[in-house]
Amino acid sequence: MEKLYIFDTTMRDGEQVPGAKLNVEQKVIIAEQLLKLGVDVIEAGFPISSPGDFAAVEAVSQLVGDRAVVCALTRAVEADIDAAVAALRPAQRPRIHTGIGSSDIHIQYKFKSTRQQVLARGVAAVAYAKKSVEEVEFYAEDAGRADNDFLAQMIAAVIAAGATHVNIPDTTGYCMSEDFYEKIKYLCDHVKGIENVIISVHCHNDLGLATANTLAGIRAGARQAQVTVNGIGERAGNAALEEVVMALKTRRDQPFEINVHTKELIPISQLVSQTMGLPVQANKAIVGANAFAHSSGIHQDGILKHRQNYEIIDPKDVGADESKIILTARSGRAALRYRLQQLGFVNQQPEQVEQIYQHFLQVADQQKEVVDHDLMTIATNVKA
Ligand code: KIV
Ligand code: ZN
Repeated sequence: MEKLYIFDTTMRDGEQVPGAKLNVEQKVIIAEQLLKLGVDVIEAGFPISSPGDFAAVEAVSQLVGDRAVVCALTRAVEADIDAAVAALRPAQRPRIHTGIGSSDIHIQYKFKSTRQQVLARGVAAVAYAKKSVEEVEFYAEDAGRADNDFLAQMIAAVIAAGATHVNIPDTTGYCMSEDFYEKIKYLCDHVKGIENVIISVHCHNDLGLATANTLAGIRAGARQAQVTVNGIGERAGNAALEEVVMALKTRRDQPFEINVHTKELIPISQLVSQTMGLPVQANKAIVGANAFAHSSGIHQDGILKHRQNYEIIDPKDVGADESKIILTARSGRAALRYRLQQLGFVNQQPEQVEQIYQHFLQVADQQKEVVDHDLMTIATNVKA
């Protein structure tokens, strides 16, 4: 089985969410949990950006030891690379993530430059970083909108300069999955030396396609996924770690060796959400409160007969307690009977259950959910 590397950027791209800034202690706590989860690479920050981020990268490097690669972000600027090298000094497995824009929009309007000049800056940054660390990952910013032929030239040049990993970001979340698949395939087929490096993908979610595009990139040949816990990140966020990992583990169309211990997915989702003050939407795949909750009568009846009727993942595999049956006005008798039994009402006669059910429907029509306390009151009254 081929190895798929999970590169976590929760503490760098994820931390770019307004209001989600982490201090050094918080980054250390999250890094500890990322190690427990089993990610291969932790991008701990952007050291030149602030003294706090510098200290955080240093502290995470100290904590991690040889348990994972610690990565620091830079622009294609020597001062950035110097700061990253200094912050990564305690790391046993340091990596520098440097890069520059690759789309004509970025080249013209952000850098006011030319294709050949930005390419030369990218090459120079890789060569400079390579003097200090063995692992250098080059990102071709806005590769999603870059011309494939120019992108291939740029990637070939940075590989020749010593890049060990090449990151192809869909920075603006612009690509359809077919486009992104074709882009990675194009690089695999046209870049000299690509077989000697690891291709990484980094997809943003502006069109809700970040996970799909990450999977498309992997199908085309990428072997590292840059992801964040809960899919947090700049604007609409990044591909969600839990979604990419569970899609690959659930479908196994192309089986990969992936280090992640999936039972840690919900604990880390909650830790990141609480520490950053970013609530997880209830219907979020894998880690949302409703990801394993069933509320309609038809689904509840099905799930009670056989869990797999309506679940493709065992909730225990991702660290959830169990599937939840939510009692609402759409619930049926099967779910009601099941919940009554759980509450200790084990020997109900069919006519008692029917009476409880009719009372239950009246209450359920007035409130969104009938909780255990309500049901016990109804059942006790009917019993009496
Ligand atoms: O979205 C992006 O292009 C990035 C790079 C810094 C990798 O976050
Ligand atoms: Zn990004």
